Amino acid sequence: MSDPVNLSVEDGIAFVIIDNPPVNALSGRVAAGLRDRVTEAAADPAVIAIVLTAFGRTFIAGADITEFGGDGPTVDVHAVLAVLEDCAKPVVAALHGTIYGGGLEVAMACHYRIADDAARLGLPEVKLGLLPGAGGTQRLPRLIGVAPALEMISTGKPVTAQDALNLGLVDRLSKGDVRTVAARFAATVARQKSPPPRTRTRTVIPPAPSFWDEAAARIGKSLRGLPAGPHILACVRAAVERPFKEGLDLEGQAFAACVRSRESEALRHLFFAERRAARIKDIPRDTPTRPIARVGVIGAGTMGGGIAMCFASAGYPVTLVDINEAALTRGLSTIQGNYAASVAKGRLAAIDRDAALSRIRTATDYAAFTDADLVIEAAFEDMDLKLLIFRDLDRVCRPGAILASNTSTLNIDQMAAATARPGDVLGLHFFSPANVMRLLEVVRGAATTPDVMATAMDLARRLGKVAVVSGVCDGFIGNRMVAGYGREANLLMLEGVEPARIDKALTEFGFPMGPIAMGDMVGLDIGVKAAAEAEKAGRGSDDPRPGIIAKRLVAAGRLGQKTGAGLYRYEPGGRRPLPDPAALAIIADAARELGIEPRDIDDQEIVDRCILPLVNEAARILAEGIAQRPGDIDIVWVNGYGFPSLHGGPLFHADTIGLPKVLDRIRQFQDRHGPRYWTPAPLLETLVAEGRRFAELED
Ligand code: CAA
Repeated sequence: MSDPVNLSVEDGIAFVIIDNPPVNALSGRVAAGLRDRVTEAAADPAVIAIVLTAFGRTFIAGADITEFGGDGPTVDVHAVLAVLEDCAKPVVAALHGTIYGGGLEVAMACHYRIADDAARLGLPEVKLGLLPGAGGTQRLPRLIGVAPALEMISTGKPVTAQDALNLGLVDRLSKGDVRTVAARFAATVARQKSPPPRTRTRTVIPPAPSFWDEAAARIGKSLRGLPAGPHILACVRAAVERPFKEGLDLEGQAFAACVRSRESEALRHLFFAERRAARIKDIPRDTPTRPIARVGVIGAGTMGGGIAMCFASAGYPVTLVDINEAALTRGLSTIQGNYAASVAKGRLAAIDRDAALSRIRTATDYAAFTDADLVIEAAFEDMDLKLLIFRDLDRVCRPGAILASNTSTLNIDQMAAATARPGDVLGLHFFSPANVMRLLEVVRGAATTPDVMATAMDLARRLGKVAVVSGVCDGFIGNRMVAGYGREANLLMLEGVEPARIDKALTEFGFPMGPIAMGDMVGLDIGVKAAAEAEKAGRGSDDPRPGIIAKRLVAAGRLGQKTGAGLYRYEPGGRRPLPDPAALAIIADAARELGIEPRDIDDQEIVDRCILPLVNEAARILAEGIAQRPGDIDIVWVNGYGFPSLHGGPLFHADTIGLPKVLDRIRQFQDRHGPRYWTPAPLLETLVAEGRRFAELED
């Protein structure tokens, strides 16, 4: 194994070069290498100054996360940073790429920092449920002041090189080769022979006394449920009020506690799961992709408009087609409204809005797709209509153009069979609102070719989406699972649990919104219509219970938020769900008619009844090969359905509870409610019998 840190000396400047692809993570070996090479350079009489730099796309992008949660560090990183900081010769960090986490902490222990002007610097540990563990909470406030340091640490948001310069985090920016600029700078400061400035000896100006209480309230809210929150505040406060060494010790204890927390484990699982999801098991990573220069979208409604926005915002020219000018005008005006809202909120510059809008052209004829490389249809969920569309697209589009459906349930293989190019057909299932939600299910048909799949995954990355591959089945991964979640919420209501209690139990579990309030927001008529369509297509259910409440409410004109009443009532123009005796009466009537007796149900049962169907169905989805791996399913649910990231997704959560317990609980429900919905998935039974976990099914 080659050495990840090398030393070369040119004209009195020692270059300590980190070479640990892909992102030069600060592993134990890199830390030890840094210590040894800097020690060698410090002892070399020919060396007057040291430049710390890295090969490849970035300076150190953080500690090596794969080494977390093991048996503890083999190298004392504080001691390594002390070697850098205590060095008698000037040590200059030459920074490029993403200088994150442990990387920024290394840089802050150097005497000077020169950054490439495209660099980004940050302490994103909080996104992994952690706080900086290599002195970041102590050195950053000393360099840039308490308030900006707390902001960077508690949000995890990186700053640009220019902002870093303004904050005093870096000393100089470089337009050219940062290594050369740093070497020149190092030679100059070495000749001046003034003692190197040491971050740890700088004093911090204490903030106003009210600062800490305000900060505690803010962080308490933004980092709710994350153990790192209070530690971050305590450590930054220690940087102001206690000696450096004591602050460092406090940080060390806090980091150790956080790294062992379930929440951090869950977030680290999601970090790697997201990256694994981008890979398709039987398709090599270097599979050539098809060039996509222009995109077509069919349907200017909510979904089609959102999809058009995704592409236009990412720089793709888009042709939006709908049946008539009126539909296009309506669609365009929604798109303009959405962009205007982003500009008003300061999330988008007016110039970028104008550029995005200028990329969207409209037409009422598929002939406008002749120059498209990809066309996505977002028409109604009606198979006959989709088959017509695919036949037409196949005729109009050039050979090699990819044809995609945004369907959330229908069979992609049937659509592919309507064309003479089944290999070029796939599903691209965006989540609503498509311009906001990160998830994209990429549905692989039986005939979809590897290069089409590779193109879709690459495209998703360019759109800033997190893509998960799904096989063809009713509802694909996400909506197939959501059926059980919604069904149990409805059955619980029929068993006498008030809607607000169901929502409260699930928001306390961590969902941003409960299933009942969600149903009201989406519109109860949507589910009722979908059920009617399924019935028409012979895919209906013979169980009247799960759908009865929505059906009755819709019949009574209670469609949800949009009509001011659904399962809750709403003040005019309001969105806050308010309990409504009228809805409760409709539920109670339905329950009575179906002969369902109300009974006492505790919060734990509410959560288990809604969450465990997800786990059971996911096990079937895995066994059928619809999802490639458990982590993919977790990514779908965290990014598409608001499953709390602190629980790591349904399957990470199941592993955390313990699969034997999960299976026991499912069997209890099976005893009480019968086998129809509660027969344990064979894969779950097998895993329990073998003493294994879902995590062991990852790649
Ligand atoms: N440790 C280990 N592996 C890492 C890593 C890290 N800190 N950061 C990235 N990687 C790996 C990824 O898993 C991925 O591996 P595969 O190719 O095998 O999937 C590879 O590097 C490339 O990563 P991305 O696909 O994410 O590449 P990108 O160019 O889109 O993004 C990045 C690069 C901005 C660095 C992004 O990976 C990132 O944000 N990484 C995490 C940075 C971070 O959180 N650092 C703090 C770590 S905690 C810490 O430092 C604690 C401390 O105080 C000591």
